[in-house]
Amino acid sequence: MNITLPLPDDFHIHLRQGKDLENYAKSAALQFGRVLAMPNTEPPVNSAESVKKYKEEILTAAPGLEVLLTFKLNKNYSEQELLEMRKNGAVAAKYYPLGVTTNSQDGVAKIEDMYPTIELMEKHDFVLCLHGEEPGAFCLDREKEFLKHLEKLCETFPKLRIVLEHVSSAEAVECVKNLPQNVAATVTVHHLILTLNDIVGDSLRPQNFCKPLPKLPKDKEAVRAAVFSGNKKFFLGTDSAPHSLEKKESLCGAAGVYSAPVAIPVLIEEFENENKLDLLSNFIAGFGADFYKIPRQAKTVIYTQKEWQVPKTIDGAVPLKAGEVLRWQK
Ligand code: DOR
Ligand code: ZN
Repeated sequence: MNITLPLPDDFHIHLRQGKDLENYAKSAALQFGRVLAMPNTEPPVNSAESVKKYKEEILTAAPGLEVLLTFKLNKNYSEQELLEMRKNGAVAAKYYPLGVTTNSQDGVAKIEDMYPTIELMEKHDFVLCLHGEEPGAFCLDREKEFLKHLEKLCETFPKLRIVLEHVSSAEAVECVKNLPQNVAATVTVHHLILTLNDIVGDSLRPQNFCKPLPKLPKDKEAVRAAVFSGNKKFFLGTDSAPHSLEKKESLCGAAGVYSAPVAIPVLIEEFENENKLDLLSNFIAGFGADFYKIPRQAKTVIYTQKEWQVPKTIDGAVPLKAGEVLRWQK
């Protein structure tokens, strides 16, 4: 049995830098036609020049991949620099609260400090991508406690397009649903299928450890219900975030799930199990493009029902569902 899908978009992916970038960009290009690359590299993408350079590096590694760029919103930018970044391929800024995740030690303590740039972003129709977690709150409450900032942003900048990235809690799903149409959320594959049990419930599973944490069953169900209702505010951003095995399994393990190599096969299974395969195209290649105001993908890709075992490691990182058997492949 075959299934024809539009070539997927990933509106949230980490491709890293240097030698790693080469592998991860190539791997991403095997799954996706178009990606929005996150800027939390070392050094960060936070200037017109670094946007240009990062795009070139990605395209050198994966020439066929269509790349949309983000820049880190950890300082205020001039109007001229914003426009220069747009010219170089940036469509969105990514906001990281201080210290909440990988490479956010240069994040921002107070979002209001970024309002001058956010105002310019609203004027020039950039998208604001939010890592929505409140530093210092109890780990399972961080997303919920961030929502006040999202609501204030909406009030202050009513025309700004905002994406709450990797939505993971029932409260955040509800909040995004209730806010106006210029507010959407990306959904990862792992937040659709994991709860805290899959990280610490039985054995410790560092490959499933990520930020925001997968939470309680009710939270996972809320994320699933939003996606399987076909609500156009919820679209795929895998947050595929590879780290080497050594970095994951250490005294201070890195947060991030490497999902890109399995994302689409897993999604086909999940949508199939819910009898919602008809909604998959919009989730992986429709709603996101519409929100970002870019043309929907015209190319298609065929997946075949044929079992395969996910390798224990890919590109030196442990992928989501490592060692498990999946039903679909390209
Ligand atoms: O788990 C995560 N890993 N969450 C993020 O927000 C960042 C990402 C990374 O870059 O590793
Ligand atoms: Zn991310």
